[in-house]
Amino acid sequence: MPVPAVRPLIAGNWKMNGLKAAASEFDAMLEGAKKVSSGIDLLVCPPATLIAAFADRLAAAHEHGAMPVAIGAQDCHTNASGAHTGDISAEMLADAGARAIIVGHSERRADHGETDAIVRTKAQAVWRAGLVAIVCVGETQGERNAGHTLDVVAGQLAGSLPDGATAVNLVVAYEPVWAIGTGMTPTAADVEEVHGFIRQTLTQRFNAEGERMRLLYGGSVKPSNASELMAVPNVNGALVGGASLKAADFLAIAAGCP
Ligand code: 13P
Repeated sequence: MPVPAVRPLIAGNWKMNGLKAAASEFDAMLEGAKKVSSGIDLLVCPPATLIAAFADRLAAAHEHGAMPVAIGAQDCHTNASGAHTGDISAEMLADAGARAIIVGHSERRADHGETDAIVRTKAQAVWRAGLVAIVCVGETQGERNAGHTLDVVAGQLAGSLPDGATAVNLVVAYEPVWAIGTGMTPTAADVEEVHGFIRQTLTQRFNAEGERMRLLYGGSVKPSNASELMAVPNVNGALVGGASLKAADFLAIAAGCP
């Protein structure tokens, strides 16, 4: 069966990094994005405190020509509003200018005890707000060593993805926990195995939509390894942490996208 063309997405997850002064780095990304292939989408997910300011800068840049860039967020609450001190809803993030929200990142699963069921409810909250959910899955080092990678990923996909996912409202990011921030990456063959398995799982459950959903690889992506990782079958882009903080690195990763 021919594999449908999937438009690549390079997403930057800034995690808990960035003060107002980082706007200059974002401006450099906007400037550089004009030279990035028109076939690629870029997404910058700064901390929530910077979303509105970045969205304003993006809107200003748009006035001088369409930009292949959007702003995203890193997490949201499951409810739209209410007595949840310190939390932020998907609707608020949409209002601030976010177009996508990462949910179920392994750091949130580990630091905040987020279960698959919570992640699934958060993905539904993202859709309720009209945004794209980027759902993260991935095994720990111990799980990989024990040969459980595909079982773990299968369980996370089954538990974290709500019914109703489409190629437009869902992006899946495979982020092996042991590759995040460590400089270690799986081999291209290992990435191919897991992404092929994810594609098969999504296609079984979501039919034709599953064939077109974007599958991102994340974990120590940098300019020097991006083109090899992005060339792997069923890898439709990257979720980049540390290297997304610098415009030059982020744009170089995008340039490595086939
Ligand atoms: P690094 O690129 O810093 O390894 O982080 C990956 C990640 O967790 C992106 O969500």
